Amino acid sequence: MAEMVNASEVSQDELARYYEALGPIRDLVLDESLTEVMVNGYENIYVERNGKILLTDRKFDDENHLLRVIDFIVSAVGRRIDFRSPMVDARLLDGSRVNAVISPIALDGPMLTIRKFSRDPYQSEDLVNFGTITTEAVGFLKACVMARANIMISGGTGTGKTTLLNVASSFIPPDERIVTIEDAAELQLHQEHVCRMESRPPDLNGENKVGIRELVINALRMRPDRIVVGECRAGEALDMLQAMNTGHDGSLTTLHANTTRDAMSRLETMVLMAGIDLPTKAIRQQVASAVDLVVQLSRMRDGQRKVTSITEITGMEGDTITMQEIFIYESHGISKEGVMTGVFRPTGIRPHIMDKLFAAGVPIPPELSRVFPDRRASERPGH
Ligand SMILES: Nc1ncnc2c1ncn2[C@@H]1O[C@H](COP(=O)(O)OP(=O)(O)O)[C@@H](O)[C@H]1O
Ligand SMILES: [Mg+2]
Repeated sequence: MAEMVNASEVSQDELARYYEALGPIRDLVLDESLTEVMVNGYENIYVERNGKILLTDRKFDDENHLLRVIDFIVSAVGRRIDFRSPMVDARLLDGSRVNAVISPIALDGPMLTIRKFSRDPYQSEDLVNFGTITTEAVGFLKACVMARANIMISGGTGTGKTTLLNVASSFIPPDERIVTIEDAAELQLHQEHVCRMESRPPDLNGENKVGIRELVINALRMRPDRIVVGECRAGEALDMLQAMNTGHDGSLTTLHANTTRDAMSRLETMVLMAGIDLPTKAIRQQVASAVDLVVQLSRMRDGQRKVTSITEITGMEGDTITMQEIFIYESHGISKEGVMTGVFRPTGIRPHIMDKLFAAGVPIPPELSRVFPDRRASERPGH
């Protein structure tokens, strides 16, 4: 990913000139109500607002105009895009993530995708207000993070994984040393002791790449209390699982999968990508013993992002990883206004981890103890 550009080091004038140079997408980039700006060829500029994709009436003058803007964005962060390397990741001055693809890869004109940086990332209350998750479930997650559960946040692209990872990471106690590892620094943690690392793609000669996996291995030598990995995609899964299984518990990451079951097989595939020859059963055992919880996110047809389940990984039975759903989303269909309705509710199964939470003495949020009371209390005489 491109070098960090610190917008605060840039004068107001320079900033104004920078945005001016973005041409027809200037206003879209500055519009805080938009989460994404997508250019498909010079004549089609789309935006995303409230989870819905809309076509705007903006256009670049012609293909060269769009290419010049792409070149401007990319070279401002010291990178380049051309026929030889027609695909690039970069950042806007405000931290927004940029991806550009030109010919010969892009067939119908240059494509530019801007994921807007949110200066003010969503907090758990926002996610509750959006209906993404309930207060009880947030309370459960919070207690689990505090008790050092290993948590995987699973979902498709743009379902809100990084946002939820940010919220979950905010529950890490302030005195812990946190190492974060990302492809593009998106997490915004407020704890004092945060060591941020970003991977680096290969340079033009295909050299000097520093991958997530190398960063995970390096992080283990940094005396971390917690390792937070922005997204697990490949061989780093093995190192993460090993870390989780050898005392570095309380790790958090996201991965790309549409269901919790898929997330488990994705993990298995990713471990194989580490290039070591482990029997399937051994890999599953690693997964089952390392991962405590999987939080599954989905994007509904109406654009809403929802946590659709929180599942506890309980162990193995034969060759199969066993799990139990603690919270699930129950769909009630679509209202007349086209809004998906439903409830996110506890299944009633008491998670094994509750006993660990009570034993660890982490404060149990009242919303949660209503759902899962402390059994030890109720077993005491006089109760
Ligand atoms: N719960 C949510 N409700 C509405 N919008 C959300 C929610 N979570 C994230 N978003 C927005 O959706 C976009 C994608 O979120 P992000 O967390 O980056 O997704 P992912 O990491 O799964 O690709 C961002 O613009 C973000 O602000
Ligand atoms: Mg993400």
